[in-house]
Amino acid sequence: MAPQSIFKDESKLDINYIPAQLPHRESQQRLLWEFFSFILRCPERMSQRVILTGDVGTGKTALAQHFGATMTTEANKKGLKFRYIYVNCREFRGLLQPVLINVIKVFRPNFPTRGYGIEEVLGMLMQMLDEEETCLILTLDEFDSLIEKEGSDTVYKLTRLQEMRQGKPQRISFIFIMRDLLSTQKLDDSARSTLQRSIIRLERYGKPQLVDILSDRVKLAFELSTVSEDVIDLVAELAYSETGNARFGIELLWRAGKYADAGDAEMLEPECVRQAMSSIVPSLRRSELNSLSFHERLFLLATARYFKENAEAYVPITELEKAYSIVCEEFNEQPKSHTQIWYYIQYLSKLGVLKTEVTSDIGRSTKISLPSIPAEELKRQLEEGFEYEWRQK
Ligand SMILES: Nc1ncnc2c1ncn2[C@@H]1O[C@H](COP(=O)(O)OP(=O)(O)OP(=O)(O)O)[C@@H](O)[C@H]1O
Ligand SMILES: [Mg+2]
Repeated sequence: MAPQSIFKDESKLDINYIPAQLPHRESQQRLLWEFFSFILRCPERMSQRVILTGDVGTGKTALAQHFGATMTTEANKKGLKFRYIYVNCREFRGLLQPVLINVIKVFRPNFPTRGYGIEEVLGMLMQMLDEEETCLILTLDEFDSLIEKEGSDTVYKLTRLQEMRQGKPQRISFIFIMRDLLSTQKLDDSARSTLQRSIIRLERYGKPQLVDILSDRVKLAFELSTVSEDVIDLVAELAYSETGNARFGIELLWRAGKYADAGDAEMLEPECVRQAMSSIVPSLRRSELNSLSFHERLFLLATARYFKENAEAYVPITELEKAYSIVCEEFNEQPKSHTQIWYYIQYLSKLGVLKTEVTSDIGRSTKISLPSIPAEELKRQLEEGFEYEWRQK
């Protein structure tokens, strides 16, 4: 007999699952409709650009995807030619050309991946939409990475795409998703003003809101009466103290369920939540971070930046050394020796911040990974620390 599980359907706790209801995002959903309802009334006559912004886990991606699906259904009902396409810019290292090629490939799967510049690809995208006679809402998630990589000119070209085609049907609208609008300050005035027309903000969730979101998810994912209100409350409390992050709460529920199953429990006990919590919380606390030496922190900053820029799980030490010497240059510091860096790596992996693995390839080199702390979070904490020290000087 298969072991009992308190899960009814754990896929409902998967990070990619988009729930049918998004409690406490009704007003933002309504706003999106207001901005884009013209597509159902007079497609081709207008286009729109909207920014969704809010902290980590506030439902930006979920909101955009939910909206895209509903819009597609409504457009289909009316027999309109409409496509909603979602791309996460970070997956393409913030480069517009591969992002656009990916969009074209939705319509033309055999489209060549290389060989065209941005201008050409933009032109081909619009021509293709004309040929298809279709309207498109393109959601560009983690758009900050594209701003950072491409800068003003490219963002301007993208946002002015429709204006450049006066008199022709309006084919493409955008939803830009960004955690904060700080990155837009890097843009010059004209790029920024064409970008920042309509902004929808997603505030952090409060605890009662997290309770509602998690209760909904519990009903979908767990067997009846296996998760008490108190346990949901506890998870919501923990997610709330993690900056009101719904993703954190959902992941915590899932892990706690796993602990319950592993212990053959019939209910999700608070102890399972605590076990899950201790397994999720970043293994590096701020106090530990501050106890590191200056160069250990420079090295860690280089590592965090590396993993933030590159979508790789492992990096050879030599790459990190390069990144570290760049950081040293920035801080006007002489880089430490190879041997010293090796000691840093040993120490940081003992703390559980880094993980080392010897590859079996020829040469037996060592690969480094950042197993549990998000690179972005680590980078932010370190940079804040440096800035604080700098201000104290
Ligand atoms: N109002 C809500 N109702 C139901 N589920 C929600 C709601 N808000 C967020 N979630 C869920 O919480 C998780 C995190 O949401 P989402 O991925 O949309 O956050 P985000 O704002 O895009 O975060 P990030 O900035 O990290 O990309 C997802 O699993 C999502 O389904
Ligand atoms: Mg997101």
